[in-house]
Amino acid sequence: MAAGDSFYIATPIFYVNDVPHIGHAYTEVAADVLARWHRQSGDDTWLLTGTDEHGQKILRTAVANDTTPKAWADKLVNDAWLPLLQTINIRNDDFIRTTDERHEKAVTIFLQKLYDDGYIYSGDYEGYYCVGCEEYKQLDDLLENEHGDFAGQLVCKIHGRPVEILKETNYFFRMSDFQQRLLDLYETNPTFIQPESVRNEIISFVKGGLSDLSISRSSFDWGIQIPWDSSHVLYVWFDALLNYITAIGYGTDDENFNRRWPATQLVGKDIARFHAVIWPAMLMAAGLQPPKQVFGHGWLLVGGEKMSKSKLTGIAPQQITDTFGIDAFRYYFMRAISFGQDGSFSWEDLSARYQAELANGFGNLASRTIAMVNKYFDGVVPAPAEASEADLVVQKTVADAAMNADAAIQRLAIHESLAAIWTIVEELNGYITLQEPWVLAKSDETRERLGTVLYTAMEGLRALAVLLSPVLPDSTTKLWDALGAPAGLGGLADQTVTDAGTWGQLPAGSTVGKLEALFPRIETDAAAG
Ligand code: ME8
Ligand code: MG
Repeated sequence: MAAGDSFYIATPIFYVNDVPHIGHAYTEVAADVLARWHRQSGDDTWLLTGTDEHGQKILRTAVANDTTPKAWADKLVNDAWLPLLQTINIRNDDFIRTTDERHEKAVTIFLQKLYDDGYIYSGDYEGYYCVGCEEYKQLDDLLENEHGDFAGQLVCKIHGRPVEILKETNYFFRMSDFQQRLLDLYETNPTFIQPESVRNEIISFVKGGLSDLSISRSSFDWGIQIPWDSSHVLYVWFDALLNYITAIGYGTDDENFNRRWPATQLVGKDIARFHAVIWPAMLMAAGLQPPKQVFGHGWLLVGGEKMSKSKLTGIAPQQITDTFGIDAFRYYFMRAISFGQDGSFSWEDLSARYQAELANGFGNLASRTIAMVNKYFDGVVPAPAEASEADLVVQKTVADAAMNADAAIQRLAIHESLAAIWTIVEELNGYITLQEPWVLAKSDETRERLGTVLYTAMEGLRALAVLLSPVLPDSTTKLWDALGAPAGLGGLADQTVTDAGTWGQLPAGSTVGKLEALFPRIETDAAAG
């Protein structure tokens, strides 16, 4: 994309029935990395996240905790969901709650429009509902439990809990009208749903036929009122999906809405159907563009199963950041899991990558290079003389890495972007080993060559600091300062990632600082969790 283009990215809004675990943090970090990259490419970037607060699941949790749903949501948002953003260093531009007045108002405008235009009608619903999923279920979404607490009952395959039988008169959205238009959208825009596995699943689901969607409930009142019938509240998913447009001014601020929409939407593959079927159909009915893209990422697995609140397998992000630090958390999940595929979390793997890649690979490269500039050049970055073959290889590695990293980000292949950037770490470590600056330092005759080698390593670190800043914001800021870069180049956040591969930006004569270990040694018993 060209610099200055709009890049609007959103995470799902999370249920406030419980506290976040590393699955939620994973989506947040991925979105934040993409947003930081685009911001540092000069794009008109906006990162939205937030919370999903209506519906039966939240209502029942509140009742079980002897409180009201709003008081419960306030508590969870303030004590858990907003603090999560600090814990993992998310730089979001907005945080929407579905209980915000701005949201409720814009939802009402949207609903009234669909009703006036004939896309909503009243009818009878009879079927199954899973409160855990907040979803209407078909028989093949269910299992007949043979043993245990729910023997003989139909349970949801995802939650393993009995579904409820609903029999109500409620309002329906004419989703079936959009079957062909959705299929056309998937066909003409092959990157609309990614990755391929999710795309194929959605296409075959829609080809199987779409029914109209029940969008209101009258048996409880924790939700947004249907504007023309106060005895009904809006189905929680219809309410929640609208957050992506209510937050940017749908119905109230056309200028901002037109500036931002459409969005890149990251979701877990568990909720890809809502985002790639129901959501674009809703938008089409309202005469709006579908999202730019819906990316359904994989699951973090624990013991081979999706980590989840309801199955009590959730790991709190802080358990990891307390030991390894925020940057390592961000790095690990972006690097170790191919974005789009499932990944098993393990303390051993985290610990091994921390030591090998962050501490020994990147951190050590930075510390020893800066230590040598301090030792051999009194802390002043030397000017390079003529480049040798080996220096040119470093320069080319940096240029290629920057280009490949950007291309990977455009494809949302965050892990590939990191792999591309890491070629610089590997090249520089090999370069220093072969050039042996500590040997060059022994004689005045090789002093010029020593200067060139250290300049090359410093300039490589300059590129690394910029390219890694979206993933490792804290440690790259420390590195940037230690490189003495701010005086000549300005702040790290103002560096353009797409220019990072251009050689020779760090001015010779810059004064370096001291660098504490970026990734300090971790006691092994703590690392084992
Ligand atoms: O579904 N691995 O909210 P939710 C990876 N409120 N990601 C995971 C994960 C795991 N094990 N567990 C959760 C909802 N996630 C609705 C969304 S949007 C209009 C409404 C992440 O609290 C992943 O992004 O159940 C998943 O889609 C989301 O959390 C579900 O969060
Ligand atoms: Mg869920």
